[in-house]
Amino acid sequence: NNLHPTIFVIFGGTGDLNKRKLAPALYNLYTEGYMPEKFSIIGTGRTTFTNEKYRDVILENINEFSRNGKVKKEKWDTFESNILYCATDITTPKTFESLKATVEGLQKEYGKETQVIYYLAVAPNFFPLIAECLCKYKLTEDEDNCRIVIEKPFGHDLESSKELNLLLSKIFTEKQIYRIDHYLGKETVQNMMAFRFANSLFEPLWNRTYIEHIQISVTEQLGVGDRGGYYEGAGALRDMIQNHLLQLLCLVGMEAPISFDADEIRNRKVEVLQAMRPIKPEDISTHAVRGQYTKGWVEGKEVPGYRSEKGVDKDSNTETFAAIKFFIDNWRWQGIPFYLRTGKRLNQTSSIITIQFKDVPHHIFSARSTETWQQNRLIISIQPEMSIRLQVQAKRPGLKMVLNPVDMVFDYKGTYNTDTPEAYETLLLDAMNGDQTLFMRGDQVDAAWELVMPILNAWENKKSLSFPNYSADSWGPEDAEALIARDGFHWFTLP
Ligand code: BG6
Repeated sequence: NNLHPTIFVIFGGTGDLNKRKLAPALYNLYTEGYMPEKFSIIGTGRTTFTNEKYRDVILENINEFSRNGKVKKEKWDTFESNILYCATDITTPKTFESLKATVEGLQKEYGKETQVIYYLAVAPNFFPLIAECLCKYKLTEDEDNCRIVIEKPFGHDLESSKELNLLLSKIFTEKQIYRIDHYLGKETVQNMMAFRFANSLFEPLWNRTYIEHIQISVTEQLGVGDRGGYYEGAGALRDMIQNHLLQLLCLVGMEAPISFDADEIRNRKVEVLQAMRPIKPEDISTHAVRGQYTKGWVEGKEVPGYRSEKGVDKDSNTETFAAIKFFIDNWRWQGIPFYLRTGKRLNQTSSIITIQFKDVPHHIFSARSTETWQQNRLIISIQPEMSIRLQVQAKRPGLKMVLNPVDMVFDYKGTYNTDTPEAYETLLLDAMNGDQTLFMRGDQVDAAWELVMPILNAWENKKSLSFPNYSADSWGPEDAEALIARDGFHWFTLP
């Protein structure tokens, strides 16, 4: 490939994200020939490591977490020589001096076109400090070749998101800022653009005339595990809805872009957020439901309730489940509800988007022949099953006219019989290529915050008296069923 020499500086080089996602992703990109000919990965952190010791740690991480299993010795031997470690204590800016020396040394060695990517895989309260230190030590001045990648959460609310955007904009141009939402790197999520805009079949139906309602459901079986400390200050609304689910909604709801250009696509997406109807304080109880899990049994093992997890307040008011009904006030979607739900410790781990079409205008078949009648549905399954199902009515074979719903299925595994890259592989490669299409622009992040703020405020100001209100391994609180049942629908799951 013709990528310019690249230096990756990973803040949080000894952290969980690097261990599970970034290091394995960079290694897989390397083994598949996507890394530039000249590259370095500099891990930074407070701990002191020699390069050799750090490489051993990374080797262990990759062996444990790479989708391709254990590393191959000959590949690893060449890959590891590109890994360096540089102890950097963010709270002691002076330690940036040795980082600067290392980066500049490599830049000299690799030549003028070397690009430097600073990846902030650290707790969000360190984002401003790091950005300021990078600026102070003049590590960000080459606009064309220097980028910063920022993990979520991007801000804690609208105000802090705006502050962070403002601070970054003083140091970087928007072209240099890569705000990650890893859902956008998922293969199936990327395919939504292809599905909608590379086929002529769906676009004429993709509107309020033919669609009845839309569901976006991202459910997880796992609890908060050892992330209680972070999650307690976040909750499901901040952790999932503000970013991942609203990004999925944008992909479903956006108008057709005129090109596959990063800004064109991001313009179309932000327009969706801007057209979404803010939920009025008096409507929150009917449009938004929160939940918190209590203890229960998962696969024969007893699991603790949220309030007994490490780092969580015994009396916590943090929601581990959220379901919201949104509307988009524009011509395409007027009056069509979008139901979003997400939660931890639910009955199934699955991310699916369901588009339910309106019923046929007139039924010609008898009630007896249509006992299992179902309106057409398009189910886009993001994970773990990667598929698109179009559910249609068909005649059951036999001498009688009996109808039942059947699935027309496109399934990745069956069709392509190949492994799909991890989201982080796609996103890291895009960052090296300078392609911002799958990253969030500042105005998108702010618009998403703006939308969730009324709910966040209402929930934070009024403690939930019903918490905990759903047991582990269930489908969440009963109110979530009621939210959608009031409109005559129910939540869909994959069989
Ligand atoms: C992260 C959230 O952004 O996404 C986690 O912080 C969540 O709480 C995770 O578990 C889900 O991602 P995925 O890729 O496993 O669906």
